[in-house]
Parts: sequence; C-alpha cells; structure tokens
Amino acid sequence: MHKLLTTQHKWLVTGCAGFIGSNLLETLLKAGQQVVGLDNFATGHQRNLDEVQALVTPAQWANFSFINGDIRNLSSCQQACAGVDYVLHQAALGSVPRSINDPITTNDTNIGGFLNMLVAARDAGVKRFVYAASSSTYGDHPALPKVEDVIGKPLSPYAITKYVNELYADVFSRSYGFHCVGLRYFNVFGPRQDPNGAYAAVIPKWTAAMIAGQDVVINGDGETSRDFCFVANAVQANIKAALANIEQSEVFNVAVGDRTSLNSLFNAIAATLAENGVQYSKTPVYAAFRPGDVRHSQADISKATTILGYQPQYRILDGLKQAMPWYIKQP
Ligand SMILES: NC(=O)c1ccc[n+]([C@@H]2O[C@H](COP(=O)([O-])OP(=O)(O)OC[C@H]3O[C@@H](n4cnc5c(N)ncnc54)[C@H](O)[C@@H]3O)[C@@H](O)[C@H]2O)c1
Repeated sequence: MHKLLTTQHKWLVTGCAGFIGSNLLETLLKAGQQVVGLDNFATGHQRNLDEVQALVTPAQWANFSFINGDIRNLSSCQQACAGVDYVLHQAALGSVPRSINDPITTNDTNIGGFLNMLVAARDAGVKRFVYAASSSTYGDHPALPKVEDVIGKPLSPYAITKYVNELYADVFSRSYGFHCVGLRYFNVFGPRQDPNGAYAAVIPKWTAAMIAGQDVVINGDGETSRDFCFVANAVQANIKAALANIEQSEVFNVAVGDRTSLNSLFNAIAATLAENGVQYSKTPVYAAFRPGDVRHSQADISKATTILGYQPQYRILDGLKQAMPWYIKQP
C-alpha cells in the first residue's frame, strides 16, 4: 500500500479518534503523509490517538495535527478542509440500535454533519472526497451477494442516514461536478474497535466477554450471517478510492466476499483465543432477534476490484489472528 503513497499529500481523516479513522491515521503517518484529524470524541477515544502515536516515529507524528471539533459545526469542517488534498470522511454515529433509540442525534450527525463536510470539502477544492457508506443500505433486499445498484428499503434510521449520504454525493456530482466515492463497509473489525458500551459491535463485544469468562449472547438463532472485513482491507480501499480516477460519484462494496454465520463466528473467536492461550468453554446464550438487523449479508466485491484495484488481503480468520493480541492486551 505504501507503494501508492510515494509523494506527500495532505489528508483529512474525520473520526480519526475512532476505530477505522485511527487505523487510517496510522497507515497514512507510517507512509510519511501529512494528516489533519477532526473528531469530537462522541464515540472515539484519546487512547486511540495515543496508541497511534506510540506506533509511529516522532517525525511521522509531527505530520499530524488534530482539531477537536464537531462536524455538525460548518466552521469546524471548513477549518479542517483548508489546504487538504484528500478527505477520508469517517465521522458518524454508527450502530443500528443507537439510531433506533435516538434517531435525532444520529440524523443530525450523519446527515447534517455529512452535508457540512461535503460543502466544506467542495469549497476547499479538495481532489477527492471519500466517505464511509454502509452495507445497511441494502436494507430488506434479499438478493445475495449484494451488488451495488440493487438495494431494498432501509431497516433502521441509521440505514436511512447512510443512504442519504449516497444521494447527496450523487447530487453534488451532478450539481457541482464534485465527485465523491462512497465505501459501503460490511462489518469491519480489528484493533481499536471499541469493545465497551451498549452499542459495541459483535466481534469486540464477544471477544471481550470471552476473555472475561462472561456469557456470550447471540441475538436470534445464530444463523444470521455477515461478510466480516478486517480493517486493513478497508484502509486499502480508502487509499485506492482517494487516488482513483473517477468521473462521477460512485459507491463500492468493501468486504471480502465471504459469509460467516454468528454460530461460526463464535467458534472462530473461541478457537483464535485458545491459540493465544485463552480458553473459553461456555456455550452461547440465545436471545431474541434484534429489530433493524439484516438477516444475511455478503458482498460482491467485483466493482471495487475492477475499478479501484481493491484486493482484500485478509479473510476473517487472518483478521481475527491479527486482532486477537490487541484484545487480550486490553485492561
Ligand atoms: N465498523 C463498521 O463495521 C462499519 C460498517 C459500516 C459503516 N461504518 C461507518 O464507518 C465510519 C467509522 O466507523 P467506526 O466503526 O470507526 O466507528 P467509531 O465510532 O469508532 O468512529 C467514529 C468516529 O467519529 C467520531 N464522531 C462521531 N460524531 C462526530 C461528530 N459530530 N463530529 C466529529 N466527530 C464525530 C467519533 O468520536 C468516532 O471517533 C462511520 O461512518 C460508520 O458509520 C462502519
């Protein structure tokens, strides 16, 4: 990947204190790039920035400047976009259940904040605006694997916000010639994904529970399936999307193309923990299906492969092996 980054550019990573944003930050700094970060610590953490600082050299860290600001505030977005070549817009409130409990804050951040970022980036004349879209946009459409232009009705307020992002990106392309790339992430996982709180994602939540010897709760019968994508694949997609030649706004699936059931995931995490010296012998506890959850998800990644040259390097077991030492190290 660093081969793509031979000259120094200035990047803006919004949501840089979060999971995917801090992984983007780490890769860009290690490649000698200049990075501006914008985050309000709504769900991100200073400890993620501290961890990146410890993983790069002091000279690389000196290429990073941080703005503690909110994307719902246009002037913070304008300040962050000044002089920037590439925007990787990750800041948003994730989680389907969070959006069901508080649709207003999710909408304000994910739609109002997104529009502020689009306007600020357009006015700053950035070369490319890449943003975190979501597989939740496929909604209730049953077809598998998921192909970019066949979507159903949204199943949650969160899914609506991510679909509206795509609509805005398309309209900015038509109205202002400002072409954007949306990356529809499918269940990204890896180091620095928050295992805590009511809205934690399944892999960090279960892994932390297993390490603590607690029960693992599976929502539904465990045959719900996902295309789990290690974060290094998503980082690769972002950099390739920023540098790609695009003539109109586009969206791409970012995943692996595999399908793993929750029951298989449970076994895979337990086995990877065992390889790392942590034994978990409890059986999972089954609970009700969660409202808003899609039943099955699996991506067709051929559009990203063909147009962006995206080649995922990690399948789920490779990613779990990479991530596990980080989870075991957490206090
Ligand atoms: N992780 C996944 O599997 C997944 C899947 C699909 C889409 N996405 C999208 O990818 C992006 C990154 O997700 P993540 O998993 O890293 O989540 P995360 O919660 O770890 O990171 C999001 C970051 O955005 C910041 N943020 C939130 N509201 C903000 C605001 N108003 N102003 C400034 N910063 C704000 C948070 O503090 C956090 O640091 C999000 O847009 C999310 O919707 C993630």
